[in-house]
Amino acid sequence: MTLDNLLKGVQTVAVICNQWGDTGKGKFSDYFASQWADVTARGTGGNNAGHTVVVNGIKKVFHLIPAGITNDSLGKITILGNGMVIDLEVLSSELDELDSDGVSYNNLMLSGDANVIMPYHVNRDRAKHQSQKNGGIGSTGRGIGPSYSDKIARRGIMVRDLFDEDNLANKIRKASELYPEQNINVEEVIERLRPYAERVHPFVRDTVAEMHRFMGEGKKILLEGAQGLLLSIEHGTYPYVTSSDCSLNGTAGGVGLSAKDIDLPLGIVKFPFMTRVGAGPFPTELGGNMSESYCAEEGHTRLDELQEHGIPHTSSNGKIEYNWRDPRIIEMINSEDFFTQGIGIRLAASEYGATTGRPRRVGWTDAVAAKYASRINGGLMILTKPDSLSGLNEFKICYGYERGSEVSETFSRDGELLRSASPVYKSYQGYGDIGDIRSHGNLPRSLKEAIYDFEKFTSGKVAVVSVGPDREETIVI
Ligand code: GDP
Ligand code: IMO
Ligand code: MG
Repeated sequence: MTLDNLLKGVQTVAVICNQWGDTGKGKFSDYFASQWADVTARGTGGNNAGHTVVVNGIKKVFHLIPAGITNDSLGKITILGNGMVIDLEVLSSELDELDSDGVSYNNLMLSGDANVIMPYHVNRDRAKHQSQKNGGIGSTGRGIGPSYSDKIARRGIMVRDLFDEDNLANKIRKASELYPEQNINVEEVIERLRPYAERVHPFVRDTVAEMHRFMGEGKKILLEGAQGLLLSIEHGTYPYVTSSDCSLNGTAGGVGLSAKDIDLPLGIVKFPFMTRVGAGPFPTELGGNMSESYCAEEGHTRLDELQEHGIPHTSSNGKIEYNWRDPRIIEMINSEDFFTQGIGIRLAASEYGATTGRPRRVGWTDAVAAKYASRINGGLMILTKPDSLSGLNEFKICYGYERGSEVSETFSRDGELLRSASPVYKSYQGYGDIGDIRSHGNLPRSLKEAIYDFEKFTSGKVAVVSVGPDREETIVI
């Protein structure tokens, strides 16, 4: 199928994730924003997200501003929606980066209804109990949870509150009483925020009213999801989740729309492996508990792992280069020791956090979890990154959870149940390089067979297969 056919009669597309984040939302937000959308809007999360966009080999990571901003000079609109939490310093520094990259942002809109991440939220998030090392959930430490907590408790500071200093001072004073350990000095906080608030002020709008107007005018609208369904506060592996509902429902609500307004919701699934960052159950994790605690420890950055496993590399000014098809990496991805195989896949697929640099935990794609996610996010899917595992002798997909003598095909949010599950796998033959393939028909037979089985099991439909990080490396089925 062509992209034109896929988008025929479609006014609204959502690019969301059906796993634990980091599946390629950045790539596909840019893909649809550059060739199709008039408006790109984000509705959930904050700068816990790290969305990578690669255009002509040049990489850019966005944390807050949707990837569509690079099309601003064409008059396209970019929105930070009401459901987001905004760290003003981070937003200002993203604007500085756009300035230095020569990217305009004349059509940027920031919702006055979005909540603000205050400096004391960041401090609270970084307090010990959130750290994975100390048994916490391993948050990104960006103040997301504490900011959403204040929102839910109806004492949050909204973007529009920033411009009424008396009201702002009152709200911060209340926070200082609530969080005495933070020694909040109201005046100091206001002084610190003022330059950033002034910087973003020209972009503040009633973005919900704007979205409703754009819908009425027939503008083509793209929603850029953040995080992933299995990290959703509502549907994910609670409490090992983020603090927003990053499902289709939450993403649409976060920009003032309803899920039923979305004509083409596309749930991204990494295939045939998947990842998770931070703590929490992950039934198909290669190396199991050992991998989970290893990834929580310091000292396993990309550089550490390259050194430890004797893989030739260069490192200068924070830029690390190595051959992801180095014979040693190929040997590791085919290792019979699953823990080593996981490290090999992490190195081959470059799975290190775009926000925190943490090693991402790695396992085979879990079709049981994907079936659950598809039920909530709609059945249309994009598969990403199969190209990064070329050189594998065989790969596996999980189609069931075995507990004792029972096999279940039903996902559960109960961590104990997930941890007691042994994945039931089907194995498929590995494949070689697929990065240059541009049609479904030309994909290796075993990968097509796995995609067919996966669609059947999840009752979903794969609409797109991605075979590289660049816009061009995309197959519309
Ligand atoms: P996001 O959070 O969902 O936007 O994903 P991230 O940017 O955190 O991580 C996805 C990574 O995979 C990025 O480095 C992308 O450039 C890269 N990527 C996306 N799609 C593909 C693909 O099909 N193949 C390969 N090799 N890399 C991809
Ligand atoms: P993108 O949009 C992957 C994870 C954190 C942690 C948990 C809670 O790039 O896919 P938080 O800081 O939100 O309170 O952390 O959620 N997490 C993500 N994992 N991708 C993300 O975003 C994530 N955003 C949060 O690692 O386990
Ligand atoms: Mg990411």
